[in-house]
Formats: sequence, structure tokens, C-alpha cells
Amino acid sequence: MTPATDTDRVDLSVDIAGVRLANPLMTASGTCGYADEYADFVDLTQLGAFVTKSITRRPRAGNDYQRVIETRAGMLNAIGLANVGLDAFVAEKAPALAALGVPVFVNVAGATIDDYLAVAEAMEAIEVVRGIELNISCPNVKAGGIQFGVDPAQAGEITSRVRAVCKKNILIVKLSPNVTDIAAPARAAVEAGADALSLVNTFTAMAIDVEARRPILANGTGGLSGPAIRPIAVCMVHRVYTQVARAAGVPIIGMGGIQFAHDAIEFLLAGATGLGIGTAMFVDPGCIGAIRAGIDEYLTRHGHGSVGEIVGRLETD
Ligand SMILES: Cc1cc2nc3c(=O)[nH]c(=O)nc-3n(C[C@H](O)[C@H](O)[C@H](O)COP(=O)(O)O)c2cc1C
Repeated sequence: MTPATDTDRVDLSVDIAGVRLANPLMTASGTCGYADEYADFVDLTQLGAFVTKSITRRPRAGNDYQRVIETRAGMLNAIGLANVGLDAFVAEKAPALAALGVPVFVNVAGATIDDYLAVAEAMEAIEVVRGIELNISCPNVKAGGIQFGVDPAQAGEITSRVRAVCKKNILIVKLSPNVTDIAAPARAAVEAGADALSLVNTFTAMAIDVEARRPILANGTGGLSGPAIRPIAVCMVHRVYTQVARAAGVPIIGMGGIQFAHDAIEFLLAGATGLGIGTAMFVDPGCIGAIRAGIDEYLTRHGHGSVGEIVGRLETD
């Protein structure tokens, strides 16, 4: 352990499968668009990496309204992968992302493997893009790729097909928590060549208008995120770390309800190397700076010199 005497000596940088990030914090896909929407509220250069909203081959309008509802400890969304589509992303959004100055991971969704391949191939030509995050876990659309995420054989197949077209970009596979054992798709993705895993996406959930006796969301169901899911997400990160990722040397990007530095440190101890911040950005767009400072303070107080020293260091005996 490297003793740290002041905050300047703490190394917050992390390595995600060869991509060096200045710190572990990144946006969780879909909660910060393509960065332009947030530019007036947040200093996004404080991030270790920026993760885009899911991009699909063609533009998508998304689901009918109502698409979002706040719950007592989080939110339910059924946006339905609304996005500008591949061509507009390349022409209009990617240049602005390049100006951010932090590595960009592009989240990709689709209905067929060819849809994913088209977007992943196009991202090879964009310099600021350093990785693809394969969204095989969106619970809010009928043909949005979740079929690949809940069946380990299909998770393995799509991973190996997309891996073959990723040359400069790393491949991160984003796992669904809507399964019996998340280690099974995690193992399939790693065996098929995933460079990193991210988890978790949202949990399928429902809210009901009891007077109308109808689901509140037009889609019927949505995905639950925020503080309510954090303990489950931490548990799943720890399971994937101990059962699959640690032995394979594959880094995990953990997410699900991270709002404060304490929450981020839980995920690091459970085995995550990177950290996605999603729903908390809607509560306080400035939380990124506070979480980063809190991780720094924790490492200093415990005499650590780098983030890597606490990754997976949960004592369970
Ligand atoms: C409004 C909203 C939109 C989202 N859109 C996407 C998306 O397009 N692609 C994706 O992979 N995940 C999407 N997610 C899931 C988040 O990236 C993240 O996995 C999940 O919300 C858990 O993190 P959190 O509790 O910090 O929000 C979305 C989440 C929310 C709340």
C-alpha cells in the first residue's frame, strides 16, 4: 500500500481494458444524452469518461408518453431508446463530444445483430470514441436487444460478432439484472471476448394509477433505477466480480443508484473499477464533483495511493 499524505498524492486514474481514465466516474447511458443537454449545468470534463445515450442504426422516436415517473426511492422510465440514430450522431453529436476532452464510450442498441454491427463499425472511424457499450439489456422496448441479454448463448453470440468489428475500440457488454443468475450472461460475454462488463441496467417494474386502474407508464412497464436498486446492484457486481471477472482480469463498470461518494466506494469494494452515475444526475447535476472529492478523501484517510488498491477489497470472512 502506498501511503498518501495529502489528496494530491492520490491517483484517481483507472484502466478500463487499456483505456486510461482520469478517474472512475462516467455517465450512465441515457441519463446525459450526448452531453450537449448538460453542458450548462455540469463540468463534464470532471468525468473519467462520457457514455452516450443508446444509439441505434435508424432514428427512434421512443415510446408514447408518459415515459417517466418518480418513485419513492428512484424512478421508472420507459423512454424506449429514443435517439437521433447513427447518421445524425456521426454528423452532429460526435464533433461536440470530441471537444469534451474525455474518452467517449458509445452505447449501442438494436433489434438484430446486423443493427449492432452497423453502429459498431461506424464508431471505428471516430477518434474520440474509445469503446462500444453493448446494450443487450434495455427492458423498455420489444425489439431492443434484451433477448440477447437474458439468454447466455445469445449474449455470447452477439458479443463475438461485435468483437470481430471492434479494432481500435474496446467492447463493454452491459448486462441485464432481469435474470436468475447474472453470472451466467457475464461468463458467456467474457468467454466470447468482452473486454469489460457494465452492470446493471434497470429492473423491469410497474407503477399503477389506482383510480384509473391502469399502468401509469404508456408502455405498461418501465425500468427502475436510483437508490432503490443500489443494494441489489452492489450484490450483482460482487457476484460477477468473484464468479467471473476477477479470474478473467476483466474490469467491471458498476452502476445502480450511485448518488454519494459512499455509494461509489461500495461499488469499488464490491469489485467495480469504473462507476456509472445515472439517476443521481437528475437530482443534482453537480454530484460528479462531490463524488470524486469524496473518493479522494476516503482513499487519503485510509492511506491508499490509488483507486486500484480498493477494487474488490471487500472482506467477507
Ligand atoms: C431516463 C433513463 C434513460 C436510460 N437510457 C438508457 C439507454 O439508452 N441505454 C442503456 O444502456 N441504459 C439506459 N439507462 C440505464 C442507465 O444507464 C443505468 O444502467 C441505470 O439507470 C442504473 O443506474 P442509476 O441508478 O444510476 O440510474 C437509462 C436510465 C434512465 C433513468
